Amino acid sequence: MPPSKPLVLVTRPIPTDWLSSLEKSCEIFVGLLSEPETQARLAEAEGLYSLLIDRVDEALLQKMPRVRVVSNMAVGVDNIDLAACTRHGIPVGNTPGVLTDATADLTMALLLTAARRLPEANADARAGRWGKWSPTAWLGADLRGATLGIVGLGKIGQAVAARAVGFGLRLVYAAHSVKPEAEAQWGAVRLSLQELLRQSDFVIILVPLNAETRSLIGENELRAMKPSAILVNAARGPIVDTAALQRALSENWIAGAALDVTDPEPLPPDHPLYTLPNCFIAPHIGSATRGTRRGMAELACENLLAGLEGRQLIHCANPEVYGSDA
Ligand code: DGY
Repeated sequence: MPPSKPLVLVTRPIPTDWLSSLEKSCEIFVGLLSEPETQARLAEAEGLYSLLIDRVDEALLQKMPRVRVVSNMAVGVDNIDLAACTRHGIPVGNTPGVLTDATADLTMALLLTAARRLPEANADARAGRWGKWSPTAWLGADLRGATLGIVGLGKIGQAVAARAVGFGLRLVYAAHSVKPEAEAQWGAVRLSLQELLRQSDFVIILVPLNAETRSLIGENELRAMKPSAILVNAARGPIVDTAALQRALSENWIAGAALDVTDPEPLPPDHPLYTLPNCFIAPHIGSATRGTRRGMAELACENLLAGLEGRQLIHCANPEVYGSDA
């Protein structure tokens, strides 16, 4: 009898042609983790192909004694208990790089949307409030010469910086380490978070969510910002305290916000943030272009195959799983 193919659990339906590289060597089972049919296959699965909405924790790993690799179709891995995976000797793959441009583009779109008050202008036009052209209607913020503060100057932060200089923005950033290339190339200046918030006309959040960054932006931070400032969150919702942001926007501590991520997610349709004219909300679509999502899916397949074949993952979020020589 030929050796059976390893079972890979894919937690949501994904276009089959995005998974074609798995088909030859794996048996693929697609199902939500919560479904009884999926639960019944957990013990057999040798690979887990997860999405950012799946919680991968000790309890799940306990039910998956044969799993050898977890491959997240996302760059963020805050849905995964990395320490638990490492304890079990399971490498966790993620998908950096392929989504950098799409996410940076969307981040700039959010910035421009809020700076130029597009949602208010659009709502007014649709509602018949578009009177004669007026010199003072729907005035927004100027970008050229304004200061953009980027919190987290990783791959996506740097791609945003590259775009932002084209708009004539002055760049400041907050990061754990100095980024010499960003300083040399774009004249970016490293500041403490508090100083960045104080100086910036626009603040973009692009740090990963972890214990250190959860609620990084709360009441104190929002009050430190200029009343004319705009906050963009393109990272993860829980980095910004939602209740504090709601107050900041309704009491005009800051001028506006544009969010691709919220806490909770999805944000329920009756949430008060939707009622604020100075808050624009997109449903976590930073990487949502056809090419990018396919690229993420395919990279997640490559990580998964590498793990099943005992090779080092192309992108591994817990490299310590390979020991100190890795
Ligand atoms: C990620 O990959 O972490 C994004 O949030 C979704 O593209």
